[in-house]
Amino acid sequence: MKNDRIISPKRREDEMALDSSLRPRQLSEYIGQDRIKENLAICIAAAKGRGESLDHVLLYGPPGLGKTTLAHVIANEMGVNIKVTSGPAIERPGDLAAILTNLRKGDILFIDEVHRLGHPVEEVLYPAMEDFALDIVIGKGPSARSIRLKLPPFTIIGATTRIALMTSPLRDRFGVVYRLDFYDLPAMKAIVQRSARILGIPIDDGGTQAIARRARGTPRVANRLLKRVRDYAQVRAEGVITEEVALQALHLLEVDELGLDDIDRKILRTIIEKFDGGPVGLETIAAALSEEADTIMDVCEPYLLQLGFLERTPRGRIATPRAYEHLGLPYPQKPIQPILL
Ligand SMILES: Nc1ncnc2c1ncn2[C@@H]1O[C@H](COP(=O)(O)OP(=O)(O)O)[C@@H](O)[C@H]1O
Ligand SMILES: [Mg+2]
Repeated sequence: MKNDRIISPKRREDEMALDSSLRPRQLSEYIGQDRIKENLAICIAAAKGRGESLDHVLLYGPPGLGKTTLAHVIANEMGVNIKVTSGPAIERPGDLAAILTNLRKGDILFIDEVHRLGHPVEEVLYPAMEDFALDIVIGKGPSARSIRLKLPPFTIIGATTRIALMTSPLRDRFGVVYRLDFYDLPAMKAIVQRSARILGIPIDDGGTQAIARRARGTPRVANRLLKRVRDYAQVRAEGVITEEVALQALHLLEVDELGLDDIDRKILRTIIEKFDGGPVGLETIAAALSEEADTIMDVCEPYLLQLGFLERTPRGRIATPRAYEHLGLPYPQKPIQPILL
């Protein structure tokens, strides 16, 4: 699947600058996720009060919900440095050892896509997270011996869209685990308002609401829709994003009133029309659509589940009556069994 879908919550190459200009820096600027913020504020205050490093934190949830942002916010609130890397970027145990020995006391190491760390690398990470120690083997054969290097205390923040793919020894070494949820409508409106203010985009309440409703509960999608609608407002209207302007622009972008795009609708249609509503395996759906199973799993499925359009069963995915209704298709009634007297 190409990553140019307007509603894709994955970051595109050209969005680095947009992301960083719109990224909240303090906990107080970070909208929504109230339970996580409250818990984090306590952990942070306690660690600072004791003069200790923060416990290792694992953040998981669909892309675009603010995991990377939150990692940076935590570093700001703790007043420490953050180094950023990712699971696939750390290829060998030596790469990780080099990163760890360069950390200073209290520093944060942010590991994105932490579920993609290789096994030998994970082995190095276990003692590092548990005892702030690095076990190094010197020499080969019978004369080889292992020495233990002490590291200054530090914090690992891991982020993943696929917690199920993490090994349990790694997961267990995070003292704090938070699942980020899709944002509710008031939070989405606040995010659209904040981004419009920062980017200097004129928008009224109706326009804010129209975009907030169609952004799949995902801040990155909200920011992207806002930019596209601004272009439309500038070229086709007087520059101000009103409800009418937003709806016209979003219609042109083929984003429907629930924020579904063509591919989401194709997934539902495939399950309903080709597989009688399911259950059908995700790989089969992906193959029928010539899309990547990974993208369907990361991007489409969580939101369709959230809307109650899909159900996950041990035998595969099922389309619910609400999905039929949204597509304007009749829900097949099960034949009534005649009662035999
Ligand atoms: N809680 C939030 N409040 C305001 N904006 C947010 C929030 N979370 C995320 N964003 C915006 O969404 C963008 C994507 O967030 P990011 O942290 O990169 O998501 P993830 O790492 O989960 O994929 C950020 O650049 C930021 O502008
Ligand atoms: Mg991220």
